[in-house]
Amino acid sequence: MGLLAIFALWLLPIPLAFLGYHYYEMYDPEGRPITIAEIDLAYDFIVIGAGSAGAVIASRLSEIPSWRVLLLEAGGDEPEAISNAPALAAYLQLTTVDWQFRTEPMPTACLGLQQGRSNWPRGKVLGGSSVLNYMLYVRGNKHDYDHWESLGNPGWNSEETLYYFKKSEDNRNPYLAQTDWHSSGGMLTVQEAPWRTPLATAFVQGGMELGYDNRDINGEFQTGFMIAQGTIRRGSRCSTSRAFLRPVRLRPNLNIAIHAHVTKIHVDPVSRRAWGVTVYHRGRPRLVRANKEIIVSAGGVMSPVLLMHSGIGPSQHLTDVGIPVIQDLPVGDNLQDHIGFGGLVFTVDQPVSLVEPRYQNLEAVYRFYAEGSGPMTVLGGVETLAFVHTKYSNTSIDWPDIQFHFIPASVASDGGTVLKKALGVSDYMWTTVFKEISYRETYSALPVLLRPVSRGFIRLRSSHPFLYPYIYPNYLYDPIDVARIVEGVKFALAHSQTAAMQRFGAKLHDIPFPQCLQFGMWTDAYWECCVRHYTSTIYHPVGTCKMGPPTDPGAVVNHRLQVYGVHNLRVADASIMPTLVSGNTNAPCVMIGEKAADLIKEDHGVLTRA
Ligand SMILES: Cc1cc2nc3c(=O)[nH]c(=O)nc-3n(C[C@H](O)[C@H](O)[C@H](O)COP(=O)(O)OP(=O)(O)OC[C@H]3O[C@@H](n4cnc5c(N)ncnc54)[C@H](O)[C@@H]3O)c2cc1C
Ligand SMILES: *[C@@H]1O[C@H](CO)[C@@H](O)[C@H](O)[C@H]1NC(C)=O
Repeated sequence: MGLLAIFALWLLPIPLAFLGYHYYEMYDPEGRPITIAEIDLAYDFIVIGAGSAGAVIASRLSEIPSWRVLLLEAGGDEPEAISNAPALAAYLQLTTVDWQFRTEPMPTACLGLQQGRSNWPRGKVLGGSSVLNYMLYVRGNKHDYDHWESLGNPGWNSEETLYYFKKSEDNRNPYLAQTDWHSSGGMLTVQEAPWRTPLATAFVQGGMELGYDNRDINGEFQTGFMIAQGTIRRGSRCSTSRAFLRPVRLRPNLNIAIHAHVTKIHVDPVSRRAWGVTVYHRGRPRLVRANKEIIVSAGGVMSPVLLMHSGIGPSQHLTDVGIPVIQDLPVGDNLQDHIGFGGLVFTVDQPVSLVEPRYQNLEAVYRFYAEGSGPMTVLGGVETLAFVHTKYSNTSIDWPDIQFHFIPASVASDGGTVLKKALGVSDYMWTTVFKEISYRETYSALPVLLRPVSRGFIRLRSSHPFLYPYIYPNYLYDPIDVARIVEGVKFALAHSQTAAMQRFGAKLHDIPFPQCLQFGMWTDAYWECCVRHYTSTIYHPVGTCKMGPPTDPGAVVNHRLQVYGVHNLRVADASIMPTLVSGNTNAPCVMIGEKAADLIKEDHGVLTRA
């Protein structure tokens, strides 16, 4: 999972550095984005945050030569080499390109994690979380978007959003590219991992034995199994910086500033116009004006934080921390995330899994750099995806409630060296449950709850702009959320019994969670306890600047993504999602960026669609 070839890299720094340099010098057709040393006094548009959405917006707005666009990113440039190896994605967590957020402890979930907290990695780098993510390309369900529109957000239905998914897509699978659901020639490269373990197809076959189709889960129907597609190019990571910023690096009207942390958006209290920002560029504060608009794309955690520091948020909370209120809005509320049970591990009896020592060798590194293939190209360790219905889901609608990530490895595949820390597994849970299977042949089935009912919130710790916020996810507060995940566990147990999986001798790793023994082994109550202990985020916090109509007391932005009560200010990123989409969130954030750019262009008199 993720980190399997890390030891190889520890042991091979010199050949790695040489190969990495050689490879990029020779083959990379796109140079690094050019960043500016000095920020000018004023621009037409200021985009805050160069992540999955922000990089797209800056790229699209700067298509208009007469518009001067400034893109401000708190982090630095994308590291080369290591971060581009898909299987090593988790290696970047807890480093300088990660904000390294952690949630507050809660009584209902994450009980078996370090201090009861969940690690929340977020990209602090050009490309944002698309530089840290596991690259799975998933759009969500059509009903998600039709639901958004039905909540009072015209223009966000499944047909409109499909136009924007296709606009950025360059699908390298010639079969899929021809279908109505995909396109080729866009800026974002999408393809399957060029290498896979024998388990990848077995996962799909097991699903077919259980009556599910092998299908494009981004196509006409979502329910089914599929070998994952990812945002990769020539076998390595295609971040939004690589896809959307590098090709336009020579545009004179696009200024990109890195190590540029925005601490405040300035709003004139009388005209209610957002007119500029304070940004700490390489540590020095600066004031920059926006003649037309400011677009906040700082992500699901930092967009609400920045708005609150600027006086836009819940008035009582702002008053409590001593920030003058500009506009009272429920910023930071409506927090939703995708979580699942991380401890569902099966042993297999053949040497097929991504056990770390097997790839401590030059061959894996060489195959990645020389051929863009081999085990280092597995998408964050995930090979197969599935969307299934539990008994709580209406099977006559194609809107499943559980997503599976099938991983040909487990938290123990590296013997507890790196993954345990990244996933925040406590020493107690590690020694009592997982240590026993260190370096053993395993796979994991991660059932993820697609549309949680529970809602959390984000609040400021103080008015100090560099302090991290309090994050309260309230995972599994509503009992239906945990009940659905327990049904997902049962599905994975049935799947492990199929002929396809039994060919590999799949067997549940059945050392019980000691804190759950009181409930009676294998009962629903036992599994519920396990889920509440090993609660794994799959890193999709959204919803904290909710899009909705003026009649919605929870809304922060309208359907054109404009902040209520403030002129010339929009939010465009994961935080605007009114409800969490039924799938991984990177492609949806790119879609939001594409659509936001067109909304802005339309409002400034540019014709966008033929
Ligand atoms: C470990 C991990 C694995 C994931 N795996 C997948 C996956 O396989 N598939 C998938 O679809 N999704 C995945 N995701 C989720 C997906 O990557 C995110 O949902 C998506 O990138 C969010 O995009 P965004 O534009 O909202 O924010 P981000 O991409 O996080 O961008 C926000 C940017 O704003 C910058 N910023 C923040 N505050 C400031 C400030 N004050 N001033 C200036 N800049 C600021 C940040 O540094 C960052 O660059 C994963 C995420 C993580 C962390
Ligand atoms: C399931 O969905 C169908 C089709 O929309 C609907 O007619 C039916 O009433 C739903 N059943 C339940 C139990 O909600």
